[in-house]
Amino acid sequence: MYYKRFYLRLGVFIRYYITTPIYYVNDKPHIGHAYTTTMADIFARWHRLCGDEVFFLTGTDEHGEKIEKAALKEGITPKIFVDKVVLKFTDMWKELDISYDKFIRTTDIVHEETVKKFIKMLYEKGDIYKGNYEGWYCVPDETFITELQLVEGKCPVCGREVKKVSEETYFFRLSKYQKQLLEFYEKNQEFLMPKTRSAEIINRVKDGLNDISITRTTVKWGIPFPIDEKHTIYVWFDALINYLSALDWPDGDLKIFWPANVHVVGKEINWFHTVIWPALLFSAGIELPKMVFAHGWWTVEGKKMSKSLGNAIDPLDIKKRYGLDQMRYFFVREVPFGDDADFSEKALIARINGELVNDLGNLVFRTLTLAERFDGIIKGTPELDKHLDVEKIKTLMRNFDTFNAMDEIWSQIRASNKYINEKEVWKLKGEELSNALYNLLESIRVITILITPFMPKTAEKIRIQLGVDAQKIDKCKFSEYSGTVKKGGHLFEKINS
Ligand code: MSP
Repeated sequence: MYYKRFYLRLGVFIRYYITTPIYYVNDKPHIGHAYTTTMADIFARWHRLCGDEVFFLTGTDEHGEKIEKAALKEGITPKIFVDKVVLKFTDMWKELDISYDKFIRTTDIVHEETVKKFIKMLYEKGDIYKGNYEGWYCVPDETFITELQLVEGKCPVCGREVKKVSEETYFFRLSKYQKQLLEFYEKNQEFLMPKTRSAEIINRVKDGLNDISITRTTVKWGIPFPIDEKHTIYVWFDALINYLSALDWPDGDLKIFWPANVHVVGKEINWFHTVIWPALLFSAGIELPKMVFAHGWWTVEGKKMSKSLGNAIDPLDIKKRYGLDQMRYFFVREVPFGDDADFSEKALIARINGELVNDLGNLVFRTLTLAERFDGIIKGTPELDKHLDVEKIKTLMRNFDTFNAMDEIWSQIRASNKYINEKEVWKLKGEELSNALYNLLESIRVITILITPFMPKTAEKIRIQLGVDAQKIDKCKFSEYSGTVKKGGHLFEKINS
């Protein structure tokens, strides 16, 4: 680890810092949370595959009114409550094979201290002042809402009831940063991603910014506001700073990962990450993250997912019934990253039976059956690598286009199946058969490298059958085949619907 830090300082490795939102621990995670975390996991794994030094952060958002209420309902203290619920997240990420490097909790002492340090900097800068907040508040979203923003008297984001709030508060001068924000967006075209969501943010900022309330007097479950301990810090202010405190900012070794390469978030919290967070960083004089990627929302069979509708999908149930890599594949393939999507088991089954069983599963099974039967040395000349464009896949992944990156990988899988059929490989003998098997095994080896970030367990299964070790992306060229094949069972089971 130490030598790595040394090389990191020298800039030998490319550093890649990726984060998920930190999730509220009021309830167990559902498929929406699993989606964000899995997509971030895919990018983290992809960058590791490319040889980058990755720091992948996830965690939990544990303060605020919502949690305070949930604990009260169970008749336990908020601390006991969060210590219990956080396990549902850490257990879930273990089950889903999420390769995070750090799990942050906003009740960690280090985080609390960092938040206090940060807020003092803003206070000393003159960006925090005392006043009164009069308006509305959505407890489930932990969001202040103005009269104008209400939609038929309800929260404009989640449509739920809001409550009237009137309390003394400290404000942050968000309005002061309007011009600087607009200039920043203009100069850093990669910051607001995907492009389809950037206009909405820019137009709202152009319309003008109100100063925001950053402390509460009616909520006890929060970090004490260091300037006036009658107040606790507003949960969103506390939460955003996790991206820095996780790096032991300002003094720890890990701070070399700042600025983050990307904050992956759901579209409903884009505003907090692309307007409020940058303004806080401007005020503190800290460099901004390079990108915020706001993905779309999953509905379930056409309906919004919610606890009250009772239609929230449990990722563990999907894993149990269909398999983990099957779920990961579905996340990537069902929708371009950034768009809204609908989760339906029918669609999931169609993808498993079509693309996983028929395309990838069959390719591996047929090739390995023939290769195991073949009694001779497998060697030949590359011919099945003609349309494989690894550079294109790399570019697509850099652009967060997992959907088309997977499509490119799949075209190699389809081309390989076509090769078997057109050449009628099962009829070949001697050198011709050796050459065909060489091409198919090399194609599968390269495909396996490329699918590793998306379907790590499947990649591992194929590697065992091919008799090869895990390899990095630079090995995606056909070379000599040097494994010992050992056919296993089918990679995926067909689902009867
Ligand atoms: N605690 C805040 C985030 C603070 S980040 C500094 C929060 N937490 S949350 O538990 O409500 O999680 C919200 C995130 O969960 C969304 O941004 C999104 O990433 C994910 N999703 C929750 N429901 C979702 C869907 N139905 N579909 C896709 N993702 C959604 O907000």
